[in-house]
Amino acid sequence: MPGTPRWFEHQSAAATEAGKTHAQWYIDRFRTLAAEGTDLDGEARLVDALVPRGARILDAGCGPGRLAGALQRRGHDVVGVDVDPALIAAAEVDHPGPAYHVMDLATLDLPGDPFDLVVSVGNVMVFLAPGSERTVLARLSDHVRPGGRIVIGFRREPEAYSFARFDADASAVGLVLEHRFRTWALGPFTEDSDFAITVLRVPTHLTT
Ligand SMILES: C[S@@+](CC[C@H](N)C(=O)[O-])C[C@H]1O[C@@H](n2cnc3c(N)ncnc32)[C@H](O)[C@@H]1O
Repeated sequence: MPGTPRWFEHQSAAATEAGKTHAQWYIDRFRTLAAEGTDLDGEARLVDALVPRGARILDAGCGPGRLAGALQRRGHDVVGVDVDPALIAAAEVDHPGPAYHVMDLATLDLPGDPFDLVVSVGNVMVFLAPGSERTVLARLSDHVRPGGRIVIGFRREPEAYSFARFDADASAVGLVLEHRFRTWALGPFTEDSDFAITVLRVPTHLTT
């Protein structure tokens, strides 16, 4: 059995101040940003550039479906998975189209063809159950076709999960680091960057 994701133990000051659970605060925050016309599609634009038209894409830790929906609207065949049922319920309302599943990434086992690309954004890696990160990377890798990619964005949180540990875990499961950026518009990553967007390649010979 996987441990409890940090997500379920996290309660931000902003959510407490608003008198909401963190999940509800997060759902409402993105509804407000969308209603205000904020550009929320930066991740989708980068991912869209990396895949063929009509690609099969998994949004791992999709939350309320912002990215899954944006990729589906760009003509891709998208599956969204998240461990929090409240967020999947919001995704089905706010961004219908992708197939959504409540599932823990540490035990991910989806039927069907492998994905061209798996994407995981919004700090999912630092919200996983402590110690489950390598297992999650292995489960994601097992769902990608040989030669496909995994794109992961998360902020620097050395106590929860450092970039160095991430690199060691990715390498241990056979993933190859292809690119790293600081922003979704390809801002260059430097050693003092607080955010890393990493593009990993699943080798053609990989078997895990
Ligand atoms: C900050 S939210 C980001 C959600 C979404 N990717 C976005 O960008 O809006 C972090 C997400 O990680 C999910 N998560 C954490 N641990 C998980 C796990 N083991 N399996 C699946 N999802 C997980 C949480 O449920 C939450 O939706």
